[in-house]
Amino acid sequence: MATVLVTGGTGYIGSHTVVELQGEGHEVVVIDNLSNSEREVLEGIASITGKMPFFEEVDLRNRKATYGVFEKYPRIEAIIHFAAFKAVGESVEKPLTYYENNLLSLIHLLEAMNRYGVHHFLFSSSCTVYGEPDRLPVTEDAPVKKASSPYGNTKQISEEILRDAMVPSPQLRVISLRYFNPIGAHPSAMIGELPLGIPNNLVPFITQTAIGIRDQLNVFGDDYNTPDGTAIRDYINVVDLAWAHVTAIDRLLQGKQRSPYEVFNLGTGKGLSVFEIIHAFEKATGVKVRYRVTGRREGDVEQVWADTGYANRELGWKAERGIGETLLSAWNWEKHLQSKKTGR
Ligand code: NAD
Ligand code: UFG
Repeated sequence: MATVLVTGGTGYIGSHTVVELQGEGHEVVVIDNLSNSEREVLEGIASITGKMPFFEEVDLRNRKATYGVFEKYPRIEAIIHFAAFKAVGESVEKPLTYYENNLLSLIHLLEAMNRYGVHHFLFSSSCTVYGEPDRLPVTEDAPVKKASSPYGNTKQISEEILRDAMVPSPQLRVISLRYFNPIGAHPSAMIGELPLGIPNNLVPFITQTAIGIRDQLNVFGDDYNTPDGTAIRDYINVVDLAWAHVTAIDRLLQGKQRSPYEVFNLGTGKGLSVFEIIHAFEKATGVKVRYRVTGRREGDVEQVWADTGYANRELGWKAERGIGETLLSAWNWEKHLQSKKTGR
Protein backbone atom coordinates (compact mmCIF):
# COMPACT_ATOMS: atom_id res chain seq x y z
CA MET A 1 0.00 0.00 0.00
CA ALA A 2 1.25 3.44 -0.86
CA THR A 3 1.08 7.03 0.32
CA VAL A 4 -0.84 8.99 -2.29
CA LEU A 5 -0.99 12.78 -2.50
CA VAL A 6 -4.44 13.88 -3.65
CA THR A 7 -4.63 17.53 -4.72
CA GLY A 8 -8.15 18.95 -4.69
CA GLY A 9 -9.01 16.11 -2.31
CA THR A 10 -11.84 17.96 -0.58
CA GLY A 11 -13.47 18.67 -3.96
CA TYR A 12 -16.22 16.66 -5.63
CA ILE A 13 -14.32 13.92 -7.46
CA GLY A 14 -11.30 14.14 -5.15
CA SER A 15 -13.30 13.37 -1.99
CA HIS A 16 -14.90 10.29 -3.55
CA THR A 17 -11.49 9.12 -4.70
CA VAL A 18 -9.97 9.57 -1.23
CA VAL A 19 -12.72 7.27 0.12
CA GLU A 20 -11.91 4.54 -2.42
CA LEU A 21 -8.13 4.87 -1.90
CA GLN A 22 -8.51 4.58 1.87
CA GLY A 23 -10.84 1.62 1.37
CA GLU A 24 -7.98 -0.14 -0.44
CA GLY A 25 -5.58 0.61 2.41
CA HIS A 26 -3.67 3.50 0.84
CA GLU A 27 -2.53 6.34 3.06
CA VAL A 28 -3.81 9.66 1.73
CA VAL A 29 -2.41 13.17 2.04
CA VAL A 30 -4.83 15.83 0.79
CA ILE A 31 -3.79 19.26 -0.47
CA ASP A 32 -6.58 21.77 -1.03
CA ASN A 33 -6.83 25.55 -0.69
CA LEU A 34 -10.60 25.26 -0.06
CA SER A 35 -11.32 27.71 -2.91
CA ASN A 36 -14.17 25.49 -4.09
CA SER A 37 -14.76 23.12 -1.19
CA GLU A 38 -15.11 23.00 2.56
CA ARG A 39 -13.01 21.58 5.36
CA GLU A 40 -16.08 19.70 6.62
CA VAL A 41 -15.75 17.35 3.66
CA LEU A 42 -12.90 15.70 5.58
CA GLU A 43 -15.39 14.69 8.27
CA GLY A 44 -17.71 13.29 5.61
CA ILE A 45 -14.82 11.17 4.31
CA ALA A 46 -13.88 10.00 7.80
CA SER A 47 -17.50 9.11 8.60
CA ILE A 48 -17.48 6.71 5.64
CA THR A 49 -14.01 5.20 6.00
CA GLY A 50 -13.36 5.62 9.70
CA LYS A 51 -10.10 7.34 8.84
CA MET A 52 -9.22 11.02 8.55
CA PRO A 53 -6.84 11.70 5.66
CA PHE A 54 -3.86 13.97 6.36
CA PHE A 55 -4.84 17.46 5.29
CA GLU A 56 -2.70 20.41 4.20
CA GLU A 57 -4.43 23.69 3.39
CA VAL A 58 -2.05 24.78 0.68
CA ASP A 59 -2.45 26.75 -2.53
CA LEU A 60 -0.55 25.00 -5.31
CA ARG A 61 0.19 28.37 -6.90
CA ASN A 62 2.56 28.81 -3.96
CA ARG A 63 5.67 26.83 -4.91
CA LYS A 64 7.31 27.03 -1.51
CA ALA A 65 4.21 25.84 0.33
CA THR A 66 3.83 23.02 -2.20
CA TYR A 67 7.41 21.90 -1.61
CA GLY A 68 6.69 22.04 2.12
CA VAL A 69 4.16 19.23 1.77
CA PHE A 70 6.74 16.97 0.11
CA GLU A 71 9.22 17.80 2.89
CA LYS A 72 6.65 16.91 5.52
CA TYR A 73 5.55 13.63 3.86
CA PRO A 74 8.70 12.14 2.27
CA ARG A 75 6.87 8.84 1.75
CA ILE A 76 4.57 10.21 -0.99
CA GLU A 77 4.87 7.80 -3.92
CA ALA A 78 2.15 8.95 -6.27
CA ILE A 79 0.05 12.01 -6.98
CA ILE A 80 -3.52 12.36 -8.18
CA HIS A 81 -3.95 15.91 -9.39
CA PHE A 82 -7.58 17.08 -9.25
CA ALA A 83 -7.02 20.67 -8.08
CA ALA A 84 -8.11 23.14 -10.74
CA PHE A 85 -10.74 25.73 -11.49
CA LYS A 86 -13.43 24.11 -13.64
CA ALA A 87 -16.25 26.49 -14.55
CA VAL A 88 -16.31 26.83 -18.34
CA GLY A 89 -18.26 30.13 -18.39
CA GLU A 90 -16.15 31.73 -15.66
CA SER A 91 -13.01 30.80 -17.57
CA VAL A 92 -14.19 32.95 -20.48
CA GLU A 93 -14.63 35.89 -18.08
CA LYS A 94 -11.34 35.31 -16.22
CA PRO A 95 -8.99 33.53 -18.62
CA LEU A 96 -5.77 34.58 -16.90
CA THR A 97 -7.02 33.38 -13.52
CA TYR A 98 -7.73 29.98 -15.09
CA TYR A 99 -4.39 29.73 -16.89
CA GLU A 100 -2.56 30.83 -13.77
CA ASN A 101 -4.30 28.44 -11.41
CA ASN A 102 -4.55 25.36 -13.60
CA LEU A 103 -1.14 25.59 -15.26
CA LEU A 104 0.98 26.95 -12.42
CA SER A 105 -0.38 24.31 -10.03
CA LEU A 106 0.61 21.57 -12.46
CA ILE A 107 4.06 23.05 -13.06
CA HIS A 108 4.78 23.36 -9.34
CA LEU A 109 3.80 19.74 -8.78
CA LEU A 110 6.04 18.55 -11.62
CA GLU A 111 8.93 20.60 -10.23
CA ALA A 112 8.32 19.09 -6.80
CA MET A 113 8.29 15.59 -8.31
CA ASN A 114 11.71 16.19 -9.82
CA ARG A 115 13.06 17.65 -6.65
CA TYR A 116 11.69 15.03 -4.26
CA GLY A 117 11.95 11.99 -6.52
CA VAL A 118 8.25 11.19 -6.96
CA HIS A 119 7.57 9.48 -10.29
CA HIS A 120 3.89 8.55 -10.55
CA PHE A 121 1.28 11.06 -11.65
CA LEU A 122 -2.42 10.79 -12.45
CA PHE A 123 -4.01 13.80 -14.14
CA SER A 124 -7.69 14.86 -14.28
CA SER A 125 -8.35 15.63 -17.90
CA SER A 126 -11.66 15.94 -19.68
CA CYS A 127 -13.58 14.81 -22.75
CA THR A 128 -13.74 18.51 -23.57
CA VAL A 129 -10.43 17.95 -25.42
CA TYR A 130 -12.37 16.10 -28.15
CA GLY A 131 -14.69 19.06 -28.85
CA GLU A 132 -17.42 17.92 -31.26
CA PRO A 133 -16.00 14.53 -32.23
CA ASP A 134 -16.10 13.31 -35.83
CA ARG A 135 -16.88 9.76 -34.81
CA LEU A 136 -18.90 8.27 -31.94
CA PRO A 137 -18.23 6.69 -29.57
CA VAL A 138 -15.03 8.66 -29.17
CA THR A 139 -11.74 6.77 -28.74
CA GLU A 140 -8.58 8.03 -27.07
CA ASP A 141 -6.83 8.48 -30.42
CA ALA A 142 -9.50 10.88 -31.74
CA PRO A 143 -7.98 14.23 -32.64
CA VAL A 144 -7.83 16.94 -30.01
CA LYS A 145 -9.96 19.83 -31.28
CA LYS A 146 -9.45 23.52 -30.74
CA ALA A 147 -10.67 24.24 -27.21
CA SER A 148 -13.90 26.20 -26.97
CA SER A 149 -12.99 27.82 -23.64
CA PRO A 150 -9.88 28.81 -21.67
CA TYR A 151 -10.82 26.07 -19.19
CA GLY A 152 -10.79 23.44 -21.94
CA ASN A 153 -7.53 24.87 -23.21
CA THR A 154 -5.92 24.43 -19.77
CA LYS A 155 -6.66 20.69 -20.04
CA GLN A 156 -5.12 20.47 -23.51
CA ILE A 157 -2.06 22.50 -22.52
CA SER A 158 -1.68 20.45 -19.32
CA GLU A 159 -1.60 17.23 -21.33
CA GLU A 160 1.10 18.79 -23.53
CA ILE A 161 3.08 19.99 -20.52
CA LEU A 162 3.00 16.46 -19.12
CA ARG A 163 4.28 14.94 -22.38
CA ASP A 164 7.07 17.51 -22.63
CA ALA A 165 8.05 17.20 -18.96
CA MET A 166 8.62 13.49 -19.45
CA VAL A 167 11.32 13.93 -22.09
CA PRO A 168 14.12 14.98 -19.71
CA SER A 169 12.70 12.87 -16.84
CA PRO A 170 12.62 9.30 -18.10
CA GLN A 171 11.52 7.91 -14.73
CA LEU A 172 8.27 9.85 -14.86
CA ARG A 173 5.12 7.74 -15.32
CA VAL A 174 1.90 9.54 -16.17
CA ILE A 175 -1.73 8.67 -16.85
CA SER A 176 -4.24 11.27 -18.05
CA LEU A 177 -7.82 10.32 -17.36
CA ARG A 178 -10.36 12.02 -19.60
CA TYR A 179 -13.59 12.19 -17.65
CA PHE A 180 -16.92 12.41 -19.41
CA ASN A 181 -19.75 13.80 -17.23
CA PRO A 182 -19.36 12.83 -13.56
CA ILE A 183 -22.62 12.91 -11.61
CA GLY A 184 -24.15 11.51 -8.41
CA ALA A 185 -22.81 11.16 -4.91
CA HIS A 186 -21.58 8.56 -2.46
CA PRO A 187 -24.47 6.20 -1.53
CA SER A 188 -24.04 7.17 2.15
CA ALA A 189 -24.93 10.79 1.19
CA MET A 190 -22.04 11.91 3.44
CA ILE A 191 -20.13 13.46 0.53
CA GLY A 192 -21.25 14.84 -2.84
CA GLU A 193 -21.05 17.84 -5.13
CA LEU A 194 -21.13 21.31 -3.55
CA PRO A 195 -21.91 23.79 -6.31
CA LEU A 196 -21.29 27.40 -5.28
CA GLY A 197 -24.16 29.66 -6.31
CA ILE A 198 -26.21 28.76 -9.36
CA PRO A 199 -25.08 25.38 -10.70
CA ASN A 200 -23.70 25.26 -14.23
CA ASN A 201 -24.15 21.54 -14.57
CA LEU A 202 -27.30 19.67 -15.42
CA VAL A 203 -27.72 17.26 -12.52
CA PRO A 204 -27.16 19.72 -9.62
CA PHE A 205 -29.60 22.06 -11.37
CA ILE A 206 -32.15 19.26 -11.59
CA THR A 207 -31.82 18.32 -7.90
CA GLN A 208 -32.02 21.98 -6.82
CA THR A 209 -35.14 22.46 -8.95
CA ALA A 210 -36.72 19.30 -7.58
CA ILE A 211 -36.13 20.44 -4.00
CA GLY A 212 -37.44 23.96 -4.69
CA ILE A 213 -34.24 26.05 -4.62
CA ARG A 214 -34.71 26.83 -8.33
CA ASP A 215 -38.03 27.53 -10.06
CA GLN A 216 -37.38 25.51 -13.14
CA LEU A 217 -34.67 23.93 -15.21
CA ASN A 218 -33.71 25.57 -18.49
CA VAL A 219 -33.14 22.92 -21.12
CA PHE A 220 -30.52 24.40 -23.39
CA GLY A 221 -31.90 23.61 -26.84
CA ASP A 222 -34.18 20.93 -28.28
CA ASP A 223 -33.21 21.49 -31.90
CA TYR A 224 -30.04 19.38 -31.98
CA ASN A 225 -29.66 16.59 -34.49
CA THR A 226 -30.41 13.89 -31.89
CA PRO A 227 -33.45 11.60 -31.50
CA ASP A 228 -35.32 13.94 -29.10
CA GLY A 229 -33.52 17.14 -30.10
CA THR A 230 -31.63 17.64 -26.80
CA ALA A 231 -27.87 17.27 -26.41
CA ILE A 232 -26.31 13.93 -25.50
CA ARG A 233 -23.59 13.23 -22.91
CA ASP A 234 -22.02 10.24 -21.20
CA TYR A 235 -22.96 10.56 -17.51
CA ILE A 236 -20.73 8.55 -15.20
CA ASN A 237 -21.33 7.79 -11.53
CA VAL A 238 -18.70 9.56 -9.41
CA VAL A 239 -18.04 6.45 -7.32
CA ASP A 240 -17.35 4.43 -10.47
CA LEU A 241 -15.09 7.26 -11.59
CA ALA A 242 -13.31 7.32 -8.24
CA TRP A 243 -12.68 3.59 -8.46
CA ALA A 244 -11.01 4.02 -11.84
CA HIS A 245 -8.38 6.14 -10.08
CA VAL A 246 -7.57 3.29 -7.71
CA THR A 247 -7.02 0.95 -10.66
CA ALA A 248 -4.89 3.57 -12.44
CA ILE A 249 -2.74 4.13 -9.33
CA ASP A 250 -2.17 0.38 -9.09
CA ARG A 251 -1.18 0.30 -12.76
CA LEU A 252 1.36 3.09 -12.21
CA LEU A 253 2.82 1.68 -9.01
CA GLN A 254 3.02 -1.86 -10.32
CA GLY A 255 4.72 -0.75 -13.53
CA LYS A 256 1.99 -2.21 -15.74
CA GLN A 257 1.87 0.63 -18.26
CA ARG A 258 2.33 -0.05 -21.95
CA SER A 259 4.04 3.30 -22.34
CA PRO A 260 5.23 5.92 -19.84
CA TYR A 261 2.39 8.28 -20.82
CA GLU A 262 -1.09 6.86 -21.21
CA VAL A 263 -4.57 8.29 -21.74
CA PHE A 264 -7.88 6.68 -20.82
CA ASN A 265 -11.48 7.69 -21.40
CA LEU A 266 -13.62 7.33 -18.32
CA GLY A 267 -17.30 7.09 -19.18
CA THR A 268 -20.07 4.51 -19.40
CA GLY A 269 -20.01 4.11 -23.17
CA LYS A 270 -23.66 5.18 -23.35
CA GLY A 271 -25.02 8.58 -24.32
CA LEU A 272 -28.15 10.04 -22.73
CA SER A 273 -30.07 13.16 -23.76
CA VAL A 274 -31.13 15.96 -21.42
CA PHE A 275 -34.75 14.78 -21.67
CA GLU A 276 -33.70 11.21 -20.89
CA ILE A 277 -31.90 12.44 -17.76
CA ILE A 278 -34.96 14.41 -16.61
CA HIS A 279 -37.21 11.38 -17.13
CA ALA A 280 -34.77 8.99 -15.47
CA PHE A 281 -34.58 11.34 -12.47
CA GLU A 282 -38.38 11.49 -12.19
CA LYS A 283 -38.63 7.72 -12.45
CA ALA A 284 -35.91 7.04 -9.87
CA THR A 285 -37.12 9.55 -7.30
CA GLY A 286 -40.84 9.97 -7.98
CA VAL A 287 -40.27 13.75 -7.99
CA LYS A 288 -41.30 15.94 -10.94
CA VAL A 289 -38.85 18.42 -12.46
CA ARG A 290 -40.30 21.66 -13.84
CA TYR A 291 -38.51 22.67 -17.00
CA ARG A 292 -38.74 24.82 -20.07
CA VAL A 293 -36.80 24.69 -23.29
CA THR A 294 -34.62 27.73 -23.97
CA GLY A 295 -31.97 28.50 -26.55
CA ARG A 296 -28.75 26.56 -26.89
CA ARG A 297 -25.89 27.38 -24.53
CA GLU A 298 -22.88 28.80 -26.34
CA GLY A 299 -19.98 26.42 -26.65
CA ASP A 300 -22.03 23.24 -26.03
CA VAL A 301 -21.32 20.26 -28.24
CA GLU A 302 -24.22 18.30 -29.69
CA GLN A 303 -23.28 14.82 -28.62
CA VAL A 304 -20.37 12.98 -27.11
CA TRP A 305 -19.97 9.65 -25.44
CA ALA A 306 -17.00 7.44 -24.74
CA ASP A 307 -15.58 4.34 -26.23
CA THR A 308 -14.54 2.76 -22.94
CA GLY A 309 -13.04 -0.41 -24.41
CA TYR A 310 -9.45 0.60 -23.75
CA ALA A 311 -10.06 1.49 -20.09
CA ASN A 312 -12.17 -1.65 -19.64
CA ARG A 313 -9.44 -3.90 -21.01
CA GLU A 314 -6.32 -2.23 -19.67
CA LEU A 315 -7.50 -1.00 -16.27
CA GLY A 316 -9.84 -3.94 -15.68
CA TRP A 317 -12.41 -1.30 -14.83
CA LYS A 318 -15.98 -0.74 -15.92
CA ALA A 319 -18.67 1.74 -14.87
CA GLU A 320 -21.18 -0.40 -13.02
CA ARG A 321 -23.87 1.82 -11.55
CA GLY A 322 -27.01 2.48 -13.59
CA ILE A 323 -28.46 5.91 -14.28
CA GLY A 324 -31.46 5.47 -11.91
CA GLU A 325 -29.24 4.52 -8.97
CA THR A 326 -26.88 7.37 -9.79
CA LEU A 327 -29.58 10.04 -10.02
CA LEU A 328 -31.12 8.75 -6.80
CA SER A 329 -27.76 9.20 -5.07
CA ALA A 330 -27.63 12.82 -6.32
CA TRP A 331 -31.15 13.34 -4.95
CA ASN A 332 -30.29 11.84 -1.56
CA TRP A 333 -27.28 14.13 -1.36
CA GLU A 334 -29.44 17.18 -2.18
CA LYS A 335 -31.86 16.13 0.59
CA HIS A 336 -28.94 15.71 2.98
CA LEU A 337 -27.75 19.27 2.21
CA GLN A 338 -31.27 20.57 2.71
CA SER A 339 -31.68 18.85 6.08
CA LYS A 340 -28.34 20.27 7.23
CA LYS A 341 -29.50 23.75 6.25
CA THR A 342 -32.87 23.52 7.94
CA GLY A 343 -31.68 21.43 10.87
CA ARG A 344 -34.34 18.80 10.12
P1 NAD B 1 -13.95 20.67 -7.50
O1 NAD B 1 -13.93 22.14 -7.73
O2 NAD B 1 -15.05 20.09 -6.71
O3 NAD B 1 -12.55 20.20 -6.87
C1 NAD B 1 -11.34 20.83 -7.16
C2 NAD B 1 -10.68 21.16 -5.82
O4 NAD B 1 -9.41 21.78 -6.08
C3 NAD B 1 -11.48 22.12 -4.96
O5 NAD B 1 -11.65 21.55 -3.68
C4 NAD B 1 -10.63 23.40 -4.88
O6 NAD B 1 -10.75 24.04 -3.65
C5 NAD B 1 -9.23 22.84 -5.15
N1 NAD B 1 -8.30 23.79 -5.76
C6 NAD B 1 -8.47 24.56 -6.87
N2 NAD B 1 -7.36 25.29 -7.10
C7 NAD B 1 -6.45 24.98 -6.15
C8 NAD B 1 -5.13 25.39 -5.86
N3 NAD B 1 -4.51 26.32 -6.58
N4 NAD B 1 -4.51 24.86 -4.78
C9 NAD B 1 -5.10 23.93 -4.01
N5 NAD B 1 -6.36 23.50 -4.22
C10 NAD B 1 -7.03 24.01 -5.28
O7 NAD B 1 -13.89 19.99 -8.98
P2 NAD B 1 -14.16 18.48 -9.39
O8 NAD B 1 -15.46 18.42 -10.11
O9 NAD B 1 -13.91 17.57 -8.28
O10 NAD B 1 -13.04 18.31 -10.50
C11 NAD B 1 -11.77 17.76 -10.22
C12 NAD B 1 -10.93 17.77 -11.46
O11 NAD B 1 -11.58 17.04 -12.50
C13 NAD B 1 -10.64 19.16 -12.03
O12 NAD B 1 -9.33 19.19 -12.51
C14 NAD B 1 -11.63 19.28 -13.15
O13 NAD B 1 -11.19 20.18 -14.13
C15 NAD B 1 -11.66 17.85 -13.67
N6 NAD B 1 -12.89 17.51 -14.40
C16 NAD B 1 -14.10 17.68 -13.78
C17 NAD B 1 -15.27 17.40 -14.50
C18 NAD B 1 -16.61 17.60 -13.86
O14 NAD B 1 -17.60 17.63 -14.58
N7 NAD B 1 -16.71 17.74 -12.54
C19 NAD B 1 -15.20 16.92 -15.82
C20 NAD B 1 -13.94 16.74 -16.41
C21 NAD B 1 -12.78 17.03 -15.67
N1 UFG C 1 -27.86 21.59 -19.56
C1 UFG C 1 -29.15 22.12 -19.59
N2 UFG C 1 -29.51 22.93 -18.57
C2 UFG C 1 -28.69 23.27 -17.55
C3 UFG C 1 -27.39 22.71 -17.51
C4 UFG C 1 -27.00 21.88 -18.56
O1 UFG C 1 -29.91 21.84 -20.51
O2 UFG C 1 -29.10 24.04 -16.66
C5 UFG C 1 -27.45 20.68 -20.65
C6 UFG C 1 -26.23 21.19 -21.40
O3 UFG C 1 -26.63 22.04 -22.46
C7 UFG C 1 -25.60 19.89 -21.88
C8 UFG C 1 -25.96 18.88 -20.77
O4 UFG C 1 -27.06 19.47 -20.07
O5 UFG C 1 -26.23 19.47 -23.05
C9 UFG C 1 -24.81 18.65 -19.80
O6 UFG C 1 -24.35 19.91 -19.33
P1 UFG C 1 -23.31 20.05 -18.13
O7 UFG C 1 -23.08 21.51 -17.92
O8 UFG C 1 -23.77 19.24 -16.97
O9 UFG C 1 -22.02 19.34 -18.70
P2 UFG C 1 -21.13 19.71 -19.97
O10 UFG C 1 -21.13 18.50 -20.82
O11 UFG C 1 -21.52 20.96 -20.59
O12 UFG C 1 -19.73 20.03 -19.26
C10 UFG C 1 -19.02 19.06 -18.52
C11 UFG C 1 -18.14 19.71 -17.43
C12 UFG C 1 -17.07 20.56 -18.06
C13 UFG C 1 -16.32 19.81 -19.10
C14 UFG C 1 -17.29 19.21 -20.08
C15 UFG C 1 -16.61 18.34 -21.08
O13 UFG C 1 -18.92 20.53 -16.59
O14 UFG C 1 -16.16 20.90 -17.05
O15 UFG C 1 -18.23 18.38 -19.40
O16 UFG C 1 -15.77 17.47 -20.38
F1 UFG C 1 -15.48 20.64 -19.78
